[in-house]
Amino acid sequence: MGRIDWRPGNMLYPLPAVLVSVADSQGRPNALTIAWAGTVCSDPPMVSISVRPERYSYHCIEETGEFVINLTTRELAYATDYCGVKSGRDVDKFSALHLTAYPSSKVKAPQIAQSPVSLECRVKQTLPLGSHTMFVAEVVSVSVDEKYLDEANRFHLDQADPIVYSHGNYYGLGELIGKFGYSVERKGRDR
Ligand SMILES: Cc1cc2nc3c(=O)[nH]c(=O)nc-3n(C[C@H](O)[C@H](O)[C@H](O)COP(=O)(O)O)c2cc1C
Repeated sequence: MGRIDWRPGNMLYPLPAVLVSVADSQGRPNALTIAWAGTVCSDPPMVSISVRPERYSYHCIEETGEFVINLTTRELAYATDYCGVKSGRDVDKFSALHLTAYPSSKVKAPQIAQSPVSLECRVKQTLPLGSHTMFVAEVVSVSVDEKYLDEANRFHLDQADPIVYSHGNYYGLGELIGKFGYSVERKGRDR
């Protein structure tokens, strides 16, 4: 038994596969699936998405400087895949998938109403990297589906059944293993 070296490639998995919604210059909505997305700063809250310039949505983002990241769920898995294989050049994905374009509060790109969490983003930097161009953006507003809020106003993302993308496959989340800081939590009650 040993380990073998592969040629360099992207194997940082699992990841969220998100639905990025955009509007073209006429305000028509489109959405594409993005796996090369990440959180890059806490304060100000910033994210990145990497998009190939040949995507139809690329020009919408470049022209408007705005997009919305919509988290995906088991219920949105089919739409997540479809939006990643069909282009807005050829098909109106919102109507084909019965997705609801919900108005954003700070940007012109719409949210996807069926998503539990939508991050409204405004581009701050555009970095051409090679195959993909990275848009580094500030999160200017966050909207959540209130059906996942409890009486104490706590948000339960797990109830939305989020999905992840790993090496070509979509998965649901597995069992809870621990919570933030559990490795250093004191066991039992001591003073
Ligand atoms: C799971 C998955 C992840 C994807 N991730 C990316 C990505 O990170 N960047 C990208 O440019 N395209 C990505 N794609 C491909 C685009 O979503 C796809 O080319 C889409 O049809 C582009 O839509 P548009 O032409 O309407 O903009 C991904 C596709 C799938 C299925």
